[in-house]
Amino acid sequence: MTLNEISNRLSQEFQAAYGRPPAWIAAAPGRVNVIGEHTDYNDGFVFPMAIERYTVMAAAPAVPNSTVVRLRDVKGTHTATIDLAQPLKPAAKGSWHNYPMGVIAGFLGRGIRPPGFDAMLDSTVPMGGGLSSSAALEVATATLLELITGKTLDPVEKALLCQKAEHDYAGMPCGIMDQFISVMGKKDHILLLDCRSRETQLVPMSDPSVALLVTNTNVKHELTGGEYAQRRAQCEEAARILGLPSLRSATADVVERAKSKMSDVVYRRARHVVSEIERTQHAAEGVRASNWPTVGQLMYASHSSLRDDYEVSCPELDAVVEIAQGLGLRGGVYGCRMTGGGFGGCTVALVDSGKLQAVSDHIAAAYEQRTGIKPTIFESRPAAGASVLKR
Ligand code: GLA
Repeated sequence: MTLNEISNRLSQEFQAAYGRPPAWIAAAPGRVNVIGEHTDYNDGFVFPMAIERYTVMAAAPAVPNSTVVRLRDVKGTHTATIDLAQPLKPAAKGSWHNYPMGVIAGFLGRGIRPPGFDAMLDSTVPMGGGLSSSAALEVATATLLELITGKTLDPVEKALLCQKAEHDYAGMPCGIMDQFISVMGKKDHILLLDCRSRETQLVPMSDPSVALLVTNTNVKHELTGGEYAQRRAQCEEAARILGLPSLRSATADVVERAKSKMSDVVYRRARHVVSEIERTQHAAEGVRASNWPTVGQLMYASHSSLRDDYEVSCPELDAVVEIAQGLGLRGGVYGCRMTGGGFGGCTVALVDSGKLQAVSDHIAAAYEQRTGIKPTIFESRPAAGASVLKR
């Protein structure tokens, strides 16, 4: 479904549910990270792109002087009511409305107070698939609140506000990548983000000879919350042992020389981060030069490092990467890796456009045969970041 199609359907459903048309509609995309995994919270580089999958939110003012926000999804399965006259606090862990509520709290914290409103959302970003459905929801909410209040935030501040919503309301100590790309994505570009300086560079990615293929393994191992925080802590420990502010300031040599001062696990975590930061910079150069075989090799190396040193892969992700690698360049695959936090979710593959369908069919059949699970596979060009569809 195109963004306009989702938005039109949402408008109709909004009218049916609330008895009037929406006054505002805003959208934000999910993302796929091409390379640079578990580097954002180490002040490193990441290289994500927004995908053509969106969370769209529509809203209309409530009755005059109301302070109540009513939220629901398009199907009416999830509903929530928030009274802005009361102090906001996170709902039970796992409650979907913690994301929009955390963003509303961020606006209130800046003294930007929306009036009561009725809102409805729809999304084509698969939930919990590692494609940043939560960042899409946060950034869509923030964009909607900008419309409602007439106050536009600076893009960096907006991304940070959304990240804080995720920390404080969803209890996930995420880095900055997902919210940045959902705010700042640009059509036909991959975003090289330096998470230390927060400088961004848009790298053009419009070569029609290659495509990015996303395979959702359709598994989610329920480890992510605790495992993610543990990885962060291990990286902080490594930096402390090295006497550095973060692993960004380390080099492979520095880590190697300090090996005896670290536990084996902490050493391997540091080795992943330092090598991944380097790979990410090289991959961005490779994309600039349309050097697809090099970019592909870096993707495979990234996957191995995430699997062996960082230990955030799982058998299903490894299966997709092995199947893709088995096809090789002749079969139309330059490279493939897990993407996002790990323990399930998606892989991303760089594929020869002319062989896209054949690659996709082969991965689908071989993966199902190996795991008994049907994957979901789709191609996406780099999409635009958050946008306004009606004001
Ligand atoms: C999750 C987090 C991001 C990032 C990735 C791993 O998606 O939200 O901030 O740390 O994991 O690269």
